[in-house]
Amino acid sequence: MATHETEMALAALDAHKRSMGGQTIADFFRDDPNRFARFHVELDDILFDYSKHRLTETTLKLLLDLARTAGVEARRAALFAGEPVNVTEHRPALHMALRNRSGRPMFAEGHDVMPEVLAERAKMEAFAEAIRNGEIKSASGTRFTDIVNIGIGGSDLGPAMAARALAPFISSDLRLHTVANVDGADLGDTLKRVPLETTLFIVCSKTFTTIETMTNAATARKAVAALLGEAAVAEHFCAVSTQLDKIAAFGIRSDRVFGFWDWVGGRYSIWSSIGLLLAIGIGKEKYEKFLQGGQDIDTHFVEAPLDRNIPVLMAMLGIWYRDFWGCAAHAVIPYDERMARFPAYLQQLEMESNGKSVDLSGTRVEYETAPVVFGEPGTNGQHAFFQMLHQGTTIVPIDFLIAARPSDADAAHHNLLFANCLAQSQALMLGRTIEAVRERLRAQNMSPAAIDALAPHKVFEGNRPSSTFLYKKMTPRILGQLIALYEHKVFVQGVVWNINSFDQWGVELGKELANTLTPIVADAGRSTEAFDSSTAGLIATARAYR
Ligand code: F6P
Repeated sequence: MATHETEMALAALDAHKRSMGGQTIADFFRDDPNRFARFHVELDDILFDYSKHRLTETTLKLLLDLARTAGVEARRAALFAGEPVNVTEHRPALHMALRNRSGRPMFAEGHDVMPEVLAERAKMEAFAEAIRNGEIKSASGTRFTDIVNIGIGGSDLGPAMAARALAPFISSDLRLHTVANVDGADLGDTLKRVPLETTLFIVCSKTFTTIETMTNAATARKAVAALLGEAAVAEHFCAVSTQLDKIAAFGIRSDRVFGFWDWVGGRYSIWSSIGLLLAIGIGKEKYEKFLQGGQDIDTHFVEAPLDRNIPVLMAMLGIWYRDFWGCAAHAVIPYDERMARFPAYLQQLEMESNGKSVDLSGTRVEYETAPVVFGEPGTNGQHAFFQMLHQGTTIVPIDFLIAARPSDADAAHHNLLFANCLAQSQALMLGRTIEAVRERLRAQNMSPAAIDALAPHKVFEGNRPSSTFLYKKMTPRILGQLIALYEHKVFVQGVVWNINSFDQWGVELGKELANTLTPIVADAGRSTEAFDSSTAGLIATARAYR
Protein backbone atom coordinates (compact mmCIF):
# COMPACT_ATOMS: atom_id res chain seq x y z
CA MET A 1 0.00 0.00 0.00
CA ALA A 2 2.84 2.40 -0.68
CA THR A 3 2.60 4.32 -3.96
CA HIS A 4 1.29 7.85 -4.20
CA GLU A 5 -1.86 6.65 -6.01
CA THR A 6 -2.47 4.09 -3.30
CA GLU A 7 -2.01 6.72 -0.60
CA MET A 8 -4.58 8.88 -2.39
CA ALA A 9 -7.02 5.96 -2.67
CA LEU A 10 -6.60 5.20 1.03
CA ALA A 11 -7.13 8.84 1.98
CA ALA A 12 -10.25 9.00 -0.18
CA LEU A 13 -11.64 5.93 1.58
CA ASP A 14 -10.84 7.44 4.98
CA ALA A 15 -12.66 10.64 4.09
CA HIS A 16 -15.56 8.68 2.62
CA LYS A 17 -15.91 6.60 5.79
CA ARG A 18 -16.09 9.78 7.87
CA SER A 19 -18.70 11.22 5.50
CA MET A 20 -20.93 8.17 5.96
CA GLY A 21 -21.77 9.48 9.44
CA GLY A 22 -24.47 7.51 11.17
CA GLN A 23 -25.95 5.98 8.02
CA THR A 24 -26.74 2.31 8.54
CA ILE A 25 -27.14 -0.66 6.25
CA ALA A 26 -30.86 -0.60 7.08
CA ASP A 27 -30.96 3.05 5.92
CA PHE A 28 -29.34 2.04 2.64
CA PHE A 29 -32.06 -0.58 2.08
CA ARG A 30 -34.82 1.89 2.95
CA ASP A 31 -33.41 4.48 0.53
CA ASP A 32 -32.89 2.10 -2.36
CA PRO A 33 -35.43 -0.60 -3.21
CA ASN A 34 -32.99 -1.92 -5.81
CA ARG A 35 -30.15 -2.43 -3.38
CA PHE A 36 -30.10 -6.22 -3.69
CA ALA A 37 -30.10 -6.00 -7.50
CA ARG A 38 -27.25 -3.52 -7.34
CA PHE A 39 -25.09 -5.45 -4.90
CA HIS A 40 -25.13 -9.08 -5.91
CA VAL A 41 -23.34 -11.14 -8.53
CA GLU A 42 -24.56 -14.43 -9.90
CA LEU A 43 -22.08 -16.83 -11.40
CA ASP A 44 -23.31 -20.20 -12.68
CA ASP A 45 -25.14 -21.72 -9.71
CA ILE A 46 -23.78 -19.41 -7.01
CA LEU A 47 -25.19 -16.06 -6.00
CA PHE A 48 -22.99 -13.71 -3.99
CA ASP A 49 -25.11 -11.19 -2.09
CA TYR A 50 -23.04 -8.35 -0.68
CA SER A 51 -25.88 -5.89 -0.18
CA LYS A 52 -25.89 -6.19 3.63
CA HIS A 53 -22.70 -4.18 4.03
CA ARG A 54 -21.69 -0.70 5.12
CA LEU A 55 -21.27 0.10 1.50
CA THR A 56 -22.57 2.51 -1.12
CA GLU A 57 -21.77 2.88 -4.82
CA THR A 58 -19.12 5.40 -3.77
CA THR A 59 -17.56 2.99 -1.26
CA LEU A 60 -17.39 0.35 -3.95
CA LYS A 61 -15.83 2.71 -6.45
CA LEU A 62 -13.20 3.84 -3.95
CA LEU A 63 -12.40 0.28 -2.87
CA LEU A 64 -11.91 -0.71 -6.50
CA ASP A 65 -9.72 2.37 -7.03
CA LEU A 66 -7.60 1.05 -4.18
CA ALA A 67 -7.44 -2.39 -5.80
CA ARG A 68 -6.40 -0.85 -9.13
CA THR A 69 -3.77 1.45 -7.69
CA ALA A 70 -2.35 -1.41 -5.62
CA GLY A 71 -1.75 -3.24 -8.90
CA VAL A 72 -4.24 -6.10 -8.57
CA GLU A 73 -4.63 -6.47 -12.33
CA ALA A 74 -0.90 -6.54 -13.06
CA ARG A 75 -0.19 -8.92 -10.19
CA ARG A 76 -3.04 -11.17 -11.27
CA ALA A 77 -1.44 -11.32 -14.72
CA ALA A 78 1.91 -12.18 -13.12
CA LEU A 79 0.27 -14.92 -11.05
CA PHE A 80 -1.33 -16.57 -14.06
CA ALA A 81 1.82 -16.12 -16.16
CA GLY A 82 3.70 -18.26 -13.64
CA GLU A 83 6.08 -15.53 -12.55
CA PRO A 84 7.82 -16.12 -9.21
CA VAL A 85 5.24 -14.23 -7.15
CA ASN A 86 6.36 -16.14 -4.05
CA VAL A 87 9.39 -13.88 -3.76
CA THR A 88 10.94 -15.28 -0.59
CA GLU A 89 10.96 -18.82 -1.97
CA HIS A 90 11.58 -17.68 -5.58
CA ARG A 91 8.64 -19.70 -6.91
CA PRO A 92 5.51 -19.18 -8.93
CA ALA A 93 2.16 -20.04 -7.31
CA LEU A 94 0.51 -21.91 -10.11
CA HIS A 95 -2.09 -24.11 -8.45
CA MET A 96 -4.50 -22.94 -11.18
CA ALA A 97 -2.59 -25.21 -13.61
CA LEU A 98 -3.71 -28.23 -11.60
CA ARG A 99 -7.36 -27.51 -12.44
CA ASN A 100 -6.73 -26.34 -15.97
CA ARG A 101 -8.97 -28.48 -18.20
CA SER A 102 -8.97 -26.04 -21.10
CA GLY A 103 -6.27 -27.70 -23.15
CA ARG A 104 -4.29 -24.47 -23.07
CA PRO A 105 -0.68 -24.38 -21.82
CA MET A 106 0.25 -22.79 -18.52
CA PHE A 107 3.78 -21.70 -17.80
CA ALA A 108 5.84 -21.74 -14.62
CA GLU A 109 8.77 -19.42 -15.24
CA GLY A 110 8.53 -20.01 -18.98
CA HIS A 111 8.08 -23.80 -18.85
CA ASP A 112 4.74 -25.33 -19.92
CA VAL A 113 3.73 -27.44 -16.94
CA MET A 114 0.55 -28.88 -18.45
CA PRO A 115 2.05 -32.07 -19.94
CA GLU A 116 3.39 -33.14 -16.50
CA VAL A 117 0.26 -31.96 -14.71
CA LEU A 118 -2.02 -33.94 -17.02
CA ALA A 119 0.18 -37.04 -16.87
CA GLU A 120 0.25 -37.01 -13.07
CA ARG A 121 -3.48 -36.35 -12.87
CA ALA A 122 -4.19 -39.25 -15.24
CA LYS A 123 -1.95 -41.56 -13.20
CA MET A 124 -3.60 -40.55 -9.95
CA GLU A 125 -7.12 -40.86 -11.34
CA ALA A 126 -6.36 -44.30 -12.83
CA PHE A 127 -5.12 -45.46 -9.43
CA ALA A 128 -8.22 -44.02 -7.73
CA GLU A 129 -10.49 -45.82 -10.20
CA ALA A 130 -8.62 -49.09 -9.71
CA ILE A 131 -9.12 -48.84 -5.95
CA ARG A 132 -12.81 -48.06 -6.48
CA ASN A 133 -13.50 -50.93 -8.85
CA GLY A 134 -11.42 -53.43 -6.90
CA GLU A 135 -8.80 -53.93 -9.60
CA ILE A 136 -6.14 -52.99 -7.07
CA LYS A 137 -6.66 -55.15 -4.02
CA SER A 138 -5.31 -55.46 -0.52
CA ALA A 139 -2.52 -57.93 0.38
CA SER A 140 -5.16 -60.56 1.13
CA GLY A 141 -6.70 -60.15 -2.32
CA THR A 142 -9.88 -58.42 -1.16
CA ARG A 143 -11.21 -54.96 -2.04
CA PHE A 144 -10.16 -51.97 0.02
CA THR A 145 -13.00 -50.77 2.20
CA ASP A 146 -11.28 -48.00 4.19
CA ILE A 147 -8.91 -45.27 3.03
CA VAL A 148 -6.89 -43.32 5.60
CA ASN A 149 -5.25 -40.03 4.59
CA ILE A 150 -2.25 -39.25 6.79
CA GLY A 151 -1.12 -35.63 6.45
CA ILE A 152 -1.35 -32.30 8.21
CA GLY A 153 -2.08 -28.67 7.28
CA GLY A 154 -2.61 -28.44 3.55
CA SER A 155 -2.00 -32.18 3.25
CA ASP A 156 -4.98 -32.84 5.50
CA LEU A 157 -7.43 -29.94 5.61
CA GLY A 158 -8.37 -30.07 1.92
CA PRO A 159 -8.98 -33.83 1.74
CA ALA A 160 -10.71 -33.84 5.15
CA MET A 161 -12.94 -30.87 4.37
CA ALA A 162 -13.86 -32.00 0.85
CA ALA A 163 -14.51 -35.63 1.82
CA ARG A 164 -17.00 -34.42 4.42
CA ALA A 165 -18.58 -31.73 2.26
CA LEU A 166 -19.17 -34.20 -0.55
CA ALA A 167 -20.23 -37.16 1.61
CA PRO A 168 -23.38 -37.85 -0.46
CA PHE A 169 -21.18 -38.36 -3.54
CA ILE A 170 -18.86 -40.88 -1.89
CA SER A 171 -19.35 -44.54 -2.81
CA SER A 172 -21.28 -46.29 -0.10
CA ASP A 173 -18.81 -49.20 -0.04
CA LEU A 174 -15.90 -46.93 0.92
CA ARG A 175 -15.15 -45.26 4.23
CA LEU A 176 -12.76 -42.30 4.21
CA HIS A 177 -10.71 -41.26 7.24
CA THR A 178 -8.11 -38.58 7.94
CA VAL A 179 -5.33 -38.52 10.52
CA ALA A 180 -3.37 -35.32 11.14
CA ASN A 181 -2.44 -34.75 14.76
CA VAL A 182 0.79 -36.11 16.22
CA ASP A 183 -1.33 -36.78 19.31
CA GLY A 184 -1.36 -40.58 19.16
CA ALA A 185 -5.07 -40.51 19.92
CA ASP A 186 -5.79 -39.42 16.35
CA LEU A 187 -4.15 -42.39 14.66
CA GLY A 188 -4.92 -44.71 17.58
CA ASP A 189 -8.65 -44.05 17.42
CA THR A 190 -8.63 -44.42 13.64
CA LEU A 191 -6.76 -47.74 13.80
CA LYS A 192 -9.43 -49.02 16.19
CA ARG A 193 -12.13 -48.11 13.66
CA VAL A 194 -10.64 -49.60 10.48
CA PRO A 195 -10.13 -53.22 9.40
CA LEU A 196 -6.39 -53.17 8.61
CA GLU A 197 -6.76 -56.11 6.20
CA THR A 198 -8.74 -53.89 3.82
CA THR A 199 -7.32 -50.45 4.63
CA LEU A 200 -5.25 -48.32 2.29
CA PHE A 201 -3.10 -45.55 3.77
CA ILE A 202 -2.23 -42.45 1.75
CA VAL A 203 0.78 -40.64 3.17
CA CYS A 204 0.47 -37.02 2.07
CA SER A 205 3.28 -34.58 2.63
CA LYS A 206 4.64 -31.99 0.24
CA THR A 207 8.05 -32.09 1.93
CA PHE A 208 7.90 -35.67 3.25
CA THR A 209 9.69 -34.44 6.36
CA THR A 210 6.81 -33.08 8.46
CA ILE A 211 7.27 -34.69 11.85
CA GLU A 212 3.58 -35.28 12.55
CA THR A 213 2.98 -37.05 9.26
CA MET A 214 6.21 -39.03 9.34
CA THR A 215 5.47 -40.18 12.91
CA ASN A 216 1.89 -41.19 12.12
CA ALA A 217 2.95 -42.91 8.90
CA ALA A 218 5.67 -44.88 10.70
CA THR A 219 3.23 -46.02 13.40
CA ALA A 220 0.62 -47.03 10.81
CA ARG A 221 3.31 -48.88 8.87
CA LYS A 222 4.32 -50.78 12.02
CA ALA A 223 0.69 -51.76 12.65
CA VAL A 224 0.29 -53.07 9.08
CA ALA A 225 3.59 -54.96 9.17
CA ALA A 226 2.76 -56.48 12.58
CA LEU A 227 -0.66 -57.73 11.53
CA LEU A 228 -0.23 -58.49 7.85
CA GLY A 229 3.54 -58.94 7.46
CA GLU A 230 6.26 -56.67 6.05
CA ALA A 231 5.37 -57.53 2.45
CA ALA A 232 1.87 -56.11 2.92
CA VAL A 233 3.27 -52.59 3.44
CA ALA A 234 3.80 -52.17 -0.30
CA GLU A 235 0.17 -53.14 -0.95
CA HIS A 236 -1.38 -51.00 1.77
CA PHE A 237 0.49 -47.72 1.38
CA CYS A 238 0.71 -45.07 -1.28
CA ALA A 239 2.15 -41.57 -1.06
CA VAL A 240 1.77 -38.04 -2.40
CA SER A 241 4.68 -35.63 -2.26
CA THR A 242 7.02 -33.36 -4.19
CA GLN A 243 10.00 -35.25 -2.68
CA LEU A 244 9.80 -38.53 -4.54
CA ASP A 245 13.28 -39.68 -3.50
CA LYS A 246 12.36 -39.57 0.21
CA ILE A 247 9.39 -41.89 -0.33
CA ALA A 248 11.38 -44.87 -1.53
CA ALA A 249 13.01 -45.29 1.87
CA PHE A 250 9.56 -45.77 3.40
CA GLY A 251 8.96 -48.87 1.27
CA ILE A 252 6.23 -47.51 -0.97
CA ARG A 253 6.04 -48.95 -4.49
CA SER A 254 7.13 -46.46 -7.13
CA ASP A 255 3.89 -46.95 -9.09
CA ARG A 256 1.94 -45.84 -5.99
CA VAL A 257 3.73 -42.56 -5.59
CA PHE A 258 2.07 -39.43 -6.91
CA GLY A 259 3.96 -36.21 -7.31
CA PHE A 260 3.33 -32.52 -7.48
CA TRP A 261 5.54 -29.49 -7.75
CA ASP A 262 7.15 -26.88 -5.53
CA TRP A 263 5.04 -24.18 -7.22
CA VAL A 264 2.02 -25.64 -5.42
CA GLY A 265 1.71 -24.26 -1.89
CA GLY A 266 0.56 -26.74 0.75
CA ARG A 267 -2.69 -24.82 1.36
CA TYR A 268 -3.40 -24.81 -2.40
CA SER A 269 -2.58 -28.49 -2.89
CA ILE A 270 -6.09 -30.01 -2.79
CA TRP A 271 -6.03 -29.55 -6.58
CA SER A 272 -2.95 -31.79 -6.90
CA SER A 273 -2.57 -35.49 -6.13
CA ILE A 274 -3.21 -34.46 -2.51
CA GLY A 275 -6.83 -34.79 -3.68
CA LEU A 276 -6.34 -38.59 -4.01
CA LEU A 277 -8.60 -39.39 -1.02
CA LEU A 278 -11.35 -37.34 -2.64
CA ALA A 279 -10.76 -38.86 -6.08
CA ILE A 280 -11.04 -42.37 -4.61
CA GLY A 281 -14.17 -41.34 -2.73
CA ILE A 282 -16.13 -39.63 -5.49
CA GLY A 283 -14.56 -41.16 -8.61
CA LYS A 284 -12.88 -39.62 -11.62
CA GLU A 285 -15.94 -38.08 -13.26
CA LYS A 286 -17.01 -36.12 -10.19
CA TYR A 287 -13.43 -35.32 -9.24
CA GLU A 288 -13.03 -33.69 -12.66
CA LYS A 289 -16.16 -31.64 -11.93
CA PHE A 290 -14.51 -30.46 -8.72
CA LEU A 291 -11.47 -29.35 -10.75
CA GLN A 292 -13.79 -27.72 -13.26
CA GLY A 293 -15.29 -25.65 -10.44
CA GLY A 294 -11.84 -24.29 -9.64
CA GLN A 295 -11.22 -23.49 -13.27
CA ASP A 296 -14.59 -21.73 -13.61
CA ILE A 297 -13.44 -19.28 -10.97
CA ASP A 298 -10.01 -18.79 -12.55
CA THR A 299 -11.77 -17.73 -15.74
CA HIS A 300 -14.13 -15.46 -13.81
CA PHE A 301 -11.28 -13.93 -11.80
CA VAL A 302 -9.28 -13.16 -14.94
CA GLU A 303 -12.14 -12.01 -17.15
CA ALA A 304 -14.82 -10.34 -15.03
CA PRO A 305 -14.60 -6.57 -14.58
CA LEU A 306 -13.52 -5.67 -11.07
CA ASP A 307 -16.98 -4.48 -10.03
CA ARG A 308 -18.49 -7.88 -11.00
CA ASN A 309 -15.51 -9.93 -9.89
CA ILE A 310 -16.53 -11.96 -6.83
CA PRO A 311 -13.05 -12.65 -5.37
CA VAL A 312 -12.13 -8.98 -5.83
CA LEU A 313 -15.35 -7.88 -4.12
CA MET A 314 -14.80 -10.36 -1.27
CA ALA A 315 -11.23 -9.14 -0.84
CA MET A 316 -12.02 -5.46 -0.88
CA LEU A 317 -14.90 -5.85 1.58
CA GLY A 318 -12.44 -7.62 3.89
CA ILE A 319 -9.98 -4.75 3.53
CA TRP A 320 -12.72 -2.20 4.14
CA TYR A 321 -13.56 -3.78 7.49
CA ARG A 322 -10.02 -4.75 8.52
CA ASP A 323 -8.23 -1.52 7.68
CA PHE A 324 -10.93 1.13 7.94
CA TRP A 325 -13.32 -0.19 10.60
CA GLY A 326 -10.74 -2.05 12.68
CA CYS A 327 -12.54 -5.41 12.53
CA ALA A 328 -10.08 -8.00 13.80
CA ALA A 329 -12.11 -11.11 13.02
CA HIS A 330 -14.04 -12.59 10.14
CA ALA A 331 -16.57 -15.38 10.60
CA VAL A 332 -17.50 -17.99 8.01
CA ILE A 333 -20.76 -19.74 8.81
CA PRO A 334 -21.85 -22.50 6.45
CA TYR A 335 -25.47 -23.43 6.98
CA ASP A 336 -24.43 -26.85 5.80
CA GLU A 337 -23.41 -29.45 8.38
CA ARG A 338 -21.19 -31.23 5.88
CA MET A 339 -19.21 -28.01 5.38
CA ALA A 340 -18.17 -28.19 9.04
CA ARG A 341 -14.45 -28.22 8.15
CA PHE A 342 -14.69 -25.37 5.67
CA PRO A 343 -13.94 -22.66 8.26
CA ALA A 344 -10.87 -24.62 9.41
CA TYR A 345 -9.78 -24.99 5.78
CA LEU A 346 -10.14 -21.23 5.30
CA GLN A 347 -8.25 -20.57 8.52
CA GLN A 348 -5.14 -22.05 6.96
CA LEU A 349 -5.81 -20.48 3.58
CA GLU A 350 -6.34 -16.96 4.94
CA MET A 351 -4.24 -16.86 8.08
CA GLU A 352 -1.20 -18.78 6.82
CA SER A 353 -1.27 -16.77 3.58
CA ASN A 354 -1.90 -13.28 4.88
CA GLY A 355 -0.89 -13.43 8.55
CA LYS A 356 2.20 -11.34 7.80
CA SER A 357 3.68 -8.14 9.23
CA VAL A 358 6.32 -7.24 6.68
CA ASP A 359 5.75 -6.19 3.08
CA LEU A 360 7.41 -7.64 0.00
CA SER A 361 10.54 -5.60 0.67
CA GLY A 362 10.74 -6.80 4.28
CA THR A 363 9.57 -3.52 5.81
CA ARG A 364 7.18 -3.61 8.79
CA VAL A 365 3.69 -2.73 7.58
CA GLU A 366 1.78 0.05 9.31
CA TYR A 367 -1.66 -1.37 8.68
CA GLU A 368 -3.57 -4.46 9.67
CA THR A 369 -3.37 -7.64 7.58
CA ALA A 370 -5.22 -10.96 7.98
CA PRO A 371 -8.07 -11.03 10.49
CA VAL A 372 -8.78 -14.00 12.74
CA VAL A 373 -10.93 -16.35 10.68
CA PHE A 374 -13.29 -18.65 12.52
CA GLY A 375 -16.61 -20.35 12.13
CA GLU A 376 -18.91 -23.26 12.77
CA PRO A 377 -21.89 -24.56 10.90
CA GLY A 378 -25.23 -22.85 11.42
CA THR A 379 -27.46 -23.34 13.24
CA ASN A 380 -25.03 -24.72 15.86
CA GLY A 381 -23.06 -21.47 16.06
CA GLN A 382 -26.26 -19.57 16.85
CA HIS A 383 -26.45 -21.40 20.15
CA ALA A 384 -22.81 -20.76 20.99
CA PHE A 385 -20.97 -17.60 19.89
CA PHE A 386 -23.65 -15.68 18.00
CA GLN A 387 -24.52 -13.78 21.18
CA MET A 388 -21.21 -11.94 20.76
CA LEU A 389 -21.83 -11.38 17.04
CA HIS A 390 -25.18 -9.72 17.84
CA GLN A 391 -24.43 -7.80 21.02
CA GLY A 392 -20.66 -7.87 21.58
CA THR A 393 -18.54 -4.71 21.46
CA THR A 394 -16.63 -5.93 18.39
CA ILE A 395 -18.04 -5.98 14.87
CA VAL A 396 -17.38 -9.29 13.10
CA PRO A 397 -18.21 -9.34 9.38
CA ILE A 398 -19.65 -12.69 8.38
CA ASP A 399 -19.87 -14.89 5.30
CA PHE A 400 -23.01 -17.03 5.34
CA LEU A 401 -23.10 -20.02 2.98
CA ILE A 402 -26.24 -21.98 2.18
CA ALA A 403 -27.65 -24.31 -0.46
CA ALA A 404 -31.09 -23.63 -1.93
CA ARG A 405 -31.72 -27.36 -2.01
CA PRO A 406 -30.51 -29.98 0.46
CA SER A 407 -28.31 -32.77 -0.96
CA ASP A 408 -30.39 -35.54 0.49
CA ALA A 409 -31.94 -34.23 3.69
CA ASP A 410 -35.55 -33.78 4.60
CA ALA A 411 -37.08 -30.64 3.01
CA ALA A 412 -38.70 -29.51 6.28
CA HIS A 413 -35.29 -29.53 8.00
CA HIS A 414 -33.82 -27.58 5.14
CA ASN A 415 -36.56 -24.95 5.28
CA LEU A 416 -35.77 -24.41 8.95
CA LEU A 417 -32.06 -24.22 8.19
CA PHE A 418 -32.62 -21.76 5.38
CA ALA A 419 -34.95 -19.53 7.40
CA ASN A 420 -32.41 -19.42 10.21
CA CYS A 421 -29.63 -18.37 7.87
CA LEU A 422 -31.69 -15.51 6.47
CA ALA A 423 -32.92 -14.55 9.94
CA GLN A 424 -29.39 -14.17 11.24
CA SER A 425 -28.16 -11.84 8.50
CA GLN A 426 -31.40 -9.86 8.82
CA ALA A 427 -31.17 -9.60 12.62
CA LEU A 428 -27.52 -8.59 12.48
CA MET A 429 -28.32 -5.87 9.99
CA LEU A 430 -31.59 -4.52 11.41
CA GLY A 431 -30.99 -4.91 15.12
CA ARG A 432 -33.69 -3.81 17.56
CA THR A 433 -33.86 -0.29 19.00
CA ILE A 434 -34.54 0.56 22.63
CA GLU A 435 -37.91 2.04 21.63
CA ALA A 436 -38.92 -1.18 19.92
CA VAL A 437 -37.78 -3.18 22.94
CA ARG A 438 -39.76 -0.96 25.30
CA GLU A 439 -42.89 -1.28 23.20
CA ARG A 440 -42.66 -5.06 23.19
CA LEU A 441 -42.18 -5.14 26.96
CA ARG A 442 -45.13 -2.78 27.47
CA ALA A 443 -47.24 -5.14 25.36
CA GLN A 444 -46.34 -7.86 27.86
CA ASN A 445 -47.75 -5.64 30.65
CA MET A 446 -44.37 -5.20 32.30
CA SER A 447 -44.06 -2.43 34.89
CA PRO A 448 -42.18 0.76 33.85
CA ALA A 449 -39.44 0.06 36.42
CA ALA A 450 -38.95 -3.49 35.15
CA ILE A 451 -38.88 -2.18 31.56
CA ASP A 452 -36.19 0.37 32.48
CA ALA A 453 -34.07 -2.36 34.04
CA LEU A 454 -34.45 -4.93 31.26
CA ALA A 455 -34.68 -2.87 28.07
CA PRO A 456 -30.94 -2.05 27.59
CA HIS A 457 -30.09 -5.76 27.74
CA LYS A 458 -32.47 -6.54 24.90
CA VAL A 459 -31.19 -3.88 22.49
CA PHE A 460 -29.44 -5.04 19.30
CA GLU A 461 -27.37 -2.25 17.75
CA GLY A 462 -27.70 -3.79 14.30
CA ASN A 463 -25.74 -2.46 11.32
CA ARG A 464 -23.60 -5.61 11.46
CA PRO A 465 -22.40 -6.63 7.99
CA SER A 466 -22.58 -9.95 6.21
CA SER A 467 -22.32 -11.51 2.76
CA THR A 468 -24.35 -14.53 1.69
CA PHE A 469 -23.28 -17.20 -0.78
CA LEU A 470 -26.39 -18.97 -2.00
CA TYR A 471 -25.70 -22.02 -4.16
CA LYS A 472 -28.19 -24.34 -5.83
CA LYS A 473 -26.99 -27.50 -4.14
CA MET A 474 -23.63 -28.70 -2.81
CA THR A 475 -21.88 -30.55 -5.63
CA PRO A 476 -18.22 -31.23 -6.46
CA ARG A 477 -18.29 -28.34 -8.92
CA ILE A 478 -19.80 -25.88 -6.42
CA LEU A 479 -17.25 -26.90 -3.79
CA GLY A 480 -14.44 -26.32 -6.30
CA GLN A 481 -15.88 -22.92 -7.08
CA LEU A 482 -16.19 -21.90 -3.45
CA ILE A 483 -12.61 -22.90 -2.62
CA ALA A 484 -11.19 -21.04 -5.61
CA LEU A 485 -13.24 -17.92 -4.79
CA TYR A 486 -11.58 -17.74 -1.38
CA GLU A 487 -8.12 -18.50 -2.84
CA HIS A 488 -8.33 -15.53 -5.19
CA LYS A 489 -9.80 -13.34 -2.46
CA VAL A 490 -6.71 -14.10 -0.38
CA PHE A 491 -4.47 -13.31 -3.34
CA VAL A 492 -6.12 -9.92 -3.95
CA GLN A 493 -5.83 -8.99 -0.29
CA GLY A 494 -2.16 -9.97 -0.33
CA VAL A 495 -1.61 -7.66 -3.30
CA VAL A 496 -3.34 -4.73 -1.61
CA TRP A 497 -1.43 -5.36 1.60
CA ASN A 498 1.76 -5.77 -0.50
CA ILE A 499 2.70 -8.96 1.34
CA ASN A 500 3.76 -12.40 0.18
CA SER A 501 0.67 -14.62 0.47
CA PHE A 502 2.59 -17.72 -0.56
CA ASP A 503 5.20 -18.27 2.14
CA GLN A 504 4.73 -19.33 5.77
CA TRP A 505 7.94 -18.62 7.67
CA GLY A 506 5.86 -18.03 10.79
CA VAL A 507 5.49 -21.76 11.37
CA GLU A 508 9.23 -22.42 11.45
CA LEU A 509 10.28 -21.16 14.88
CA GLY A 510 7.85 -23.40 16.76
CA LYS A 511 9.00 -26.40 14.71
CA GLU A 512 12.66 -25.68 15.56
CA LEU A 513 11.98 -25.27 19.25
CA ALA A 514 9.90 -28.46 19.33
CA ASN A 515 12.87 -30.31 17.84
CA THR A 516 15.08 -29.00 20.64
CA LEU A 517 12.51 -29.80 23.32
CA THR A 518 11.51 -33.29 22.18
CA PRO A 519 14.61 -35.15 23.50
CA ILE A 520 14.42 -33.23 26.79
CA VAL A 521 10.74 -34.00 27.26
CA ALA A 522 11.44 -37.65 26.45
CA ASP A 523 14.42 -38.03 28.80
CA ALA A 524 13.81 -37.13 32.44
CA GLY A 525 17.58 -37.08 33.05
CA ARG A 526 18.21 -34.13 30.72
CA SER A 527 18.80 -30.68 32.19
CA THR A 528 16.28 -27.89 31.61
CA GLU A 529 18.61 -25.17 32.94
CA ALA A 530 18.97 -23.43 29.60
CA PHE A 531 15.24 -22.69 29.39
CA ASP A 532 13.13 -19.85 30.77
CA SER A 533 11.61 -20.66 34.15
CA SER A 534 8.12 -21.27 32.77
CA THR A 535 9.30 -23.87 30.24
CA ALA A 536 11.62 -25.48 32.80
CA GLY A 537 8.89 -25.41 35.46
CA LEU A 538 6.34 -27.05 33.20
CA ILE A 539 8.80 -29.80 32.21
CA ALA A 540 9.72 -30.41 35.85
CA THR A 541 6.06 -30.62 36.88
CA ALA A 542 5.21 -32.93 33.97
CA ARG A 543 8.11 -35.18 35.01
CA ALA A 544 6.74 -35.25 38.55
CA TYR A 545 3.19 -35.97 37.33
CA ARG A 546 4.45 -38.80 35.16
O1 F6P B 1 3.71 -26.07 8.99
C1 F6P B 1 3.02 -25.49 7.94
C2 F6P B 1 3.04 -26.34 6.71
O2 F6P B 1 4.25 -26.20 6.05
C3 F6P B 1 1.88 -26.01 5.81
O3 F6P B 1 2.10 -24.94 4.99
C4 F6P B 1 1.66 -27.30 5.12
O4 F6P B 1 0.41 -27.36 4.54
C5 F6P B 1 1.84 -28.27 6.25
O5 F6P B 1 2.87 -27.71 7.02
C6 F6P B 1 2.18 -29.68 5.86
O6 F6P B 1 3.37 -29.75 5.15
P1 F6P B 1 3.76 -31.03 4.31
O7 F6P B 1 2.71 -31.23 3.27
O8 F6P B 1 5.10 -30.73 3.73
O9 F6P B 1 3.80 -32.20 5.25
